[in-house]
Amino acid sequence: MALIAEPFGALPDGSPVIRYTLSRPGGLTLRVLTYGGIVQSLEVPDARGRVVNVVLGFASLHGYLAAGDAYFGCLVGRFANRLAGGRFSLDGENYAVDVNAGGNCLHGGSTGFDKRLWSAEPFNDNELRLTLTSPDGDQGFPGRLNVEVTYCLLESGVRIGYRATTDAPTVINLTNHSYFNLAGEGSGSVEAHTLVIDADEFTPVSRDLIPTGEVAVVAGTPLDLRRKTAVGAHLRDPHRQLLAARGYDHNYVLRGTGLRRAARLADPTTGRVLEVLTDQPGLQLYTGNFLDGSHVGIGGRAYRQGDGLALETQHFPDSPNHPAFPSTVLRPGQLFATSTTWLFHTD
Ligand code: GLA
Repeated sequence: MALIAEPFGALPDGSPVIRYTLSRPGGLTLRVLTYGGIVQSLEVPDARGRVVNVVLGFASLHGYLAAGDAYFGCLVGRFANRLAGGRFSLDGENYAVDVNAGGNCLHGGSTGFDKRLWSAEPFNDNELRLTLTSPDGDQGFPGRLNVEVTYCLLESGVRIGYRATTDAPTVINLTNHSYFNLAGEGSGSVEAHTLVIDADEFTPVSRDLIPTGEVAVVAGTPLDLRRKTAVGAHLRDPHRQLLAARGYDHNYVLRGTGLRRAARLADPTTGRVLEVLTDQPGLQLYTGNFLDGSHVGIGGRAYRQGDGLALETQHFPDSPNHPAFPSTVLRPGQLFATSTTWLFHTD
């Protein structure tokens, strides 16, 4: 087991970015940047011990700075996914937060947590602790928020722990936005991967990808992934939800509560399997619909639509504007604490 820190370039203002590498001999290697808390690479062996990097990313900091709107591998906050019109009210106060995507707030606004320099401190050889203080009024959000994210390298996986406290009532929704390709980043489409999502329902969206507020059953729609289904099997079905999003970009209402399995992604060619466990109520399946071949990844290949998919564990998008959705309110004295685990094995 080892933990290595090395320079990874500097931001335009001169601040140095550090890359941490956590590894286990014969096991996984995880590389995390202090910029955005980005998972730059995650090397995973297959059944025959062949190791590839299963997340999309870039070789240099410049790659991340140039492709910020695709959120490669980063930590997302203060509020993952969309807030309609960048507006919500809390305790009778109306808030207007930064709008950065078609008149809505996406992933916490233009300078979200994905574009911040986090402080890092190795906890032990297997665990890296990242912290960030988001001042009151940051991107328009109320309350000074102290956030801590830990990346813990397990025997065959990664556990991400999120904790936050605030000094004034606020809303919060944190996630990680890694795009997975279990055959290796840059190897082409994930349409042949199979996927299971442990959800009977989803939150339908309108054309601008804002939840309508309904909770609909997946049964009878291309969103039904309760049984092992190839990612590409229904991707081109002329269903209104898929057409609005150009593919899958939907929040699933996960079955059950507490830490439980949310999804299982498998690559039939290499046998690699990823199981996602979380205590969160939702999971956003995003099939990289906006990847357009304009960014060259870490291995030298351009990323196109469907070359990776994100499984973002989260609270439901736009929750503050839908009182029936599980609450995303965090108050002083409360601890926001959640965790998500990526477990890898081979079929
Ligand atoms: C999330 C959203 C998508 C898109 C990506 C980033 O997955 O749901 O609509 O914004 O982030 O490109």
